[in-house]
Amino acid sequence: MKTVMEMFSLKDRLAVITGGAGLLGTKHAEAILEAGGSVALLDLNRDRLLATSDRLRAQHGTERVLALATDITSGKSLSDARDKIESYFKKNADILINNAAIDPKFENKPGAKPLSRLEAFPLEQWNLELSVGLTGSFLAVQTFGPKMAATGRGVILNIASDLGLISPDQRIYRQPGVADDMQPVKPVTYSAIKHGLMGLTKYVATYWAKEGVRCNAFAPGGVFNNHPQEFVDKLTPLIPMGRMANVDEYKAAIVFLVSDASSYMNGATLVFDGGRSIM
Ligand SMILES: NC(=O)c1ccc[n+]([C@@H]2O[C@H](COP(=O)([O-])OP(=O)(O)OC[C@H]3O[C@@H](n4cnc5c(N)ncnc54)[C@H](O)[C@@H]3O)[C@@H](O)[C@H]2O)c1
Repeated sequence: MKTVMEMFSLKDRLAVITGGAGLLGTKHAEAILEAGGSVALLDLNRDRLLATSDRLRAQHGTERVLALATDITSGKSLSDARDKIESYFKKNADILINNAAIDPKFENKPGAKPLSRLEAFPLEQWNLELSVGLTGSFLAVQTFGPKMAATGRGVILNIASDLGLISPDQRIYRQPGVADDMQPVKPVTYSAIKHGLMGLTKYVATYWAKEGVRCNAFAPGGVFNNHPQEFVDKLTPLIPMGRMANVDEYKAAIVFLVSDASSYMNGATLVFDGGRSIM
């Protein structure tokens, strides 16, 4: 019988983290390393990947950190990454965290409807964002899941959002002096991807349950990352705790979700949003 602290241990566990060079991907990696595990970071952004892996390798040892430039929209890129991971660590992944996403930036033409608005939203942008957030998660599950099922152990964690549970409150994105039909909005893709991830979570949770592979979703609220004060002032009244999350505040939850501490949790969503989604 393991003690509670032993159940949180990730010793000898290997986690693949997509978008592992991003703001939260780096934090998921730190959390897993601090709990004794090893990490393989997959990301498109080579510079950030290198900087992150240099830092984590210096802190935790080269043998526990691998960073691979990978495009998760490509099954080939993912299977190449899987082969390199298996040869580096001499084992297959125990944990997959589907975390990568595109944070869209729109270049609006003066006088034209903002591209973030539903009526103007470009199909190519829809396809691009879904190819990472949703298709990329599916492809990563397809790449890393079967070996987990074959070895009888695995955890897949999909990083959703509080906006995978509720609709965006478009009032917080409003600009002063702009007509209603010209206001920028939180794009439709974000809701579609994050709600879609909940569906993927439930599907995978039943698909490999008997093989010992669990799949859950994590629904974090917004992390403060030097947002303009006027945005913070509009968002925080929607959150019962009255503040955004700190960037390190999800680390313990990630360890819980990918370790044996959550061994009977499957197909569920852990909501960490300061209470926003209950309002
Ligand atoms: N930051 C927040 O406040 C917040 C809140 C709720 C949910 N989330 C979710 O958490 C996750 C991480 O968010 P973040 O703030 O760290 O974002 P981020 O933009 O810092 O990181 C995302 C990473 O994904 C990578 N990426 C994009 N396309 C890729 C591709 N094709 N292949 C491989 N990697 C690719 C990017 O290079 C980037 O490093 C996202 O799913 C996001 O929606 C974030």
